Amino acid sequence: MNKDEYFLFLNEQEKNEKIIGIENYAIKNRVPIIQKPGLDFLTAIIKISKCKKILEIGTAIGYSAINCALINKDIYVTTIERDELMLKEAKKNIELFNLNEKITIIYNDALEVNELELGNDYDLIFIDAAKSQYQKFFEKYAKCLKKGGLIVSDNLIFHDLIFKETIANRNTMQLVNKIKKYNLWLKSNTLFNTKFFNIGDGIALSIKK
Ligand SMILES: C[S@@+](CC[C@H](N)C(=O)[O-])C[C@H]1O[C@@H](n2cnc3c(N)ncnc32)[C@H](O)[C@@H]1O
Repeated sequence: MNKDEYFLFLNEQEKNEKIIGIENYAIKNRVPIIQKPGLDFLTAIIKISKCKKILEIGTAIGYSAINCALINKDIYVTTIERDELMLKEAKKNIELFNLNEKITIIYNDALEVNELELGNDYDLIFIDAAKSQYQKFFEKYAKCLKKGGLIVSDNLIFHDLIFKETIANRNTMQLVNKIKKYNLWLKSNTLFNTKFFNIGDGIALSIKK
């Protein structure tokens, strides 16, 4: 057992059959969902900080939104998705958990949504959509966050690719360079206090000053 497997084992809990069903669907259909250690971190942060209003950029099939909404009865999630097939599957899953009242999906490109209509009282924003646009998402949606609110960014080491000196595929190389740039931008953003964590695929937690 390596270090990652050992921590997964320690954190392992009896799981809901329906959650396992979504995880299996994601594996079978190659839908990228948050890794287990990342989800454990995200849900722990939500519990500790007593978040109630969450905004997610990138719903996919609703896995992270459902896991967040299930934490307690006071949590409401608004989540943005631009892909119609993902949207359909997410709706199905949200229905399956009877969470229609607690999870609202906005079907649109997150860069096209009028963020001012969302208000400015979110406790936490989870950025988990197109990696090349992270800085744009962050700048656009930071307005929706209350003072002291949190932004969690996932996939900051992008399957360890950011440690490779050369990458044959030009598009992947460009994407990796964008992620590196985003990490440095986050590090130097004085409007937020950011800490980076070697958890899952690399996570940053930014606290609005
Ligand atoms: C990594 S998946 C999200 C996984 C999900 N948060 C989870 O952990 O269960 C990223 C999703 O973001 C969506 N996406 C990418 N760019 C987007 C954009 N600009 N606006 C809205 N959705 C976007 C993709 O279609 C994809 O379904």
